[in-house]
Order: sequence, then structure tokens, then C-alpha cells
Amino acid sequence: MVVLCSAVLAQGPLTPEELRGRQIYERGLSLSGRPIMGSLGAGEVSVPATILPCANCHGHDGRGKPEGGIVPSDITWDALTKPYVVKHPPYTERLLKRAVTMGIDPAGNSLEAAMPRFQLSNDDMADLMAYVKRLGQSVDPGLTATSVRWGVILPAADRSRRIVTETLTRYVDELNGAGGVYGRRIELHFTEFAGAKELREFIEREQIFAFTGSFLTADIGEVLREMRTPAVAAFGAWPKASNPYVFYLDKGAGEEVADRDVWTRATASAEIVTEALKRAGRSVSRESLIHEMEGFYQVMTTLGGPITFGPDRRVGR
Ligand code: HEC
Repeated sequence: MVVLCSAVLAQGPLTPEELRGRQIYERGLSLSGRPIMGSLGAGEVSVPATILPCANCHGHDGRGKPEGGIVPSDITWDALTKPYVVKHPPYTERLLKRAVTMGIDPAGNSLEAAMPRFQLSNDDMADLMAYVKRLGQSVDPGLTATSVRWGVILPAADRSRRIVTETLTRYVDELNGAGGVYGRRIELHFTEFAGAKELREFIEREQIFAFTGSFLTADIGEVLREMRTPAVAAFGAWPKASNPYVFYLDKGAGEEVADRDVWTRATASAEIVTEALKRAGRSVSRESLIHEMEGFYQVMTTLGGPITFGPDRRVGR
């Protein structure tokens, strides 16, 4: 298990090009800001790729999400380049570009109409190609076959700090006792905010996959954005500027929170991350975790009152 896992991690973090490709694959978004379009049917319907990103059909890991009788192909690079495939010879990068833009496979057959035909600039295509080659291999920090690491930024008040630590430790013990999530144990790493540099180092050193039950300020949010690390905030001020990486339970509680509320808020934010991990499946990434939280509609937590997030909504209730 350990060997397999380090082989995957040996691939290293995603390059800037691969990260841009991931935006296209996961969200249909180009770095250039120009919309990417896809056409459906015999080309008569044109839709933005943000509505039909590759991940919607092929899954976050590229292995395909069968839906309504349609089975999108496994498009991991290994699968595409297998020397012998029943339907067609192996893909090359050039043939893959042709499949994405014209819907033609290496044998010259038309792909089913369920696979959109996309129009991409050369730069976007290069980014997408780079990422497709990493599909099913890329592993975010803090994630192994057997564990996933959560960070917690503790509030400044002593009492709250102690309650958050105890609450989350108990919560995670219980979750791990019941088998964790997809067989992964949750590991908790606590810290306090002592400055942007320290937080950056903490995320790197401790390999934090995501934060939960955390104290959040705009400064902390900026570090999370820079490090592309998702967080569910339970305490601290609710900043006005939106930050795609930070989800708030509600408009926020200040530093002075009643003991019982500290417990409720810490628990609710852990429940949110747990639920998102479950929805994201075994091949979860930071990006897919965010994507799953964006899909939360009236999810009940210990906090009471349903939590709803969305692509443009980061405040749960
Ligand atoms: C609306 C769903 C949908 C979306 C979105 C989608 N695909 Fe597909 N894709 C399919 C289906 C279904 C097939 C299988 C078609 C067939 O077998 O003829 C397919 C086939 C493919 C193939 C051919 C694989 C093979 O074995 O020949 C490639 C490559 C591919 N998709 C890449 C992509 C990429 C890259 C994106 C994003 C830019 C994307 N697809 C977006 C549904 C989708």
C-alpha cells in the first residue's frame, strides 16, 4: 500500500500548466477568461463548457461516470494509450485533440453525440492535454490511500480553543472508529494563526488537505487562496470579498461565542467536510471537494437550519 502510494506521489505536485488544464477539465474555465464552447447534437446547440465541463461526464478521475445509460469513456492517459483497444488504435496527443474538437476517434469513427465537440484556443488545448495526462494520478497534499489530513486554525480565546480541540478530536475518533471515509483515517493537525508566512509553512509542512472548524479572517483566507486549500470557517469575521476556497457556516460568529455554540459550530463544520468527502468519492481532490460543497442544497448539520452553498454562494445560511 505504502509503495503504491509513494509511486503516485512521486509524480509531484501539478505544474502551472496542469493546474490551468485542471480548471478547464473541472470547470470549463480558461485562464484567458475567454469562454470555451462545446456543441451538442449535430452541432446545432452550442453551450459554454462551464455548463458541461469534462469532469461532469468523465468524473474527477477521468474514469467516467455512467449516467442515464450513457457510459462516458475512461479517458485516463493509460486507458487512452493502451496498445490494444477493442474499438480503435491507441490515442496520441494529436488524436486526442481531434477527438475533443471534432469527435473522431483514432480509427476515424465518430464519437457518440453525447460527447460534446469543444472549441479551444491552442493555449487552452495545451493546458488541457497536460492535465489529461495526469488524470487519475494527481494527488493533492494530505491525501494518501489510507488517510486524509484536516487542519484546524484555532480561535484566539483560550476557552474556545480548548473546546474546539476536544470537540473535533472526539468527532474524528468516532468517524475513524466507524472506518473513516472510504477507508481513509482522518488526521487532525491544529494550529493558531501567527501570520501568513507561518500558516503557509504549516500547510506545507503538515500537508493539510483541507481545513475545518477553523477561525478565519480575510488575511487567512488569502493564504488559503494562494495555497489552493479549501476551508470551512466556523469562527471569525465574515469577509465581504468572496474567496472560492473558503466556505462559511453563516455570516459568522465573533470571538465571543458561548461554549455550546463553539461545540455546535466546530461539529457542524466537520460534518460539512465529511459529507463533501463522501460525495466526492474515493478519488477526491481539493478541487472536487470544493465542487461537492458548491452542490450542497439544504444539507442538515448539528447547527440546525439547512446549509446551502453554490458556485457563487459561500455562506451556508
Ligand atoms: C456531456 C457529457 C460529456 C462531456 C461534458 C465530455 N464528454 Fe467526453 N465523452 C462522453 C461520452 C458519452 C463519450 C463516449 C462516446 C462514444 O463512445 O462514442 C466520450 C468520449 C470521449 C473521448 C473518446 C474516448 C475513446 O475511447 O475514444 C475523449 C478523448 C473524451 N471524451 C474527452 C473529453 C474531454 C477532454 C472533455 C472536456 C473538454 C469531455 N470529453 C467532455 C461524454 C462527455
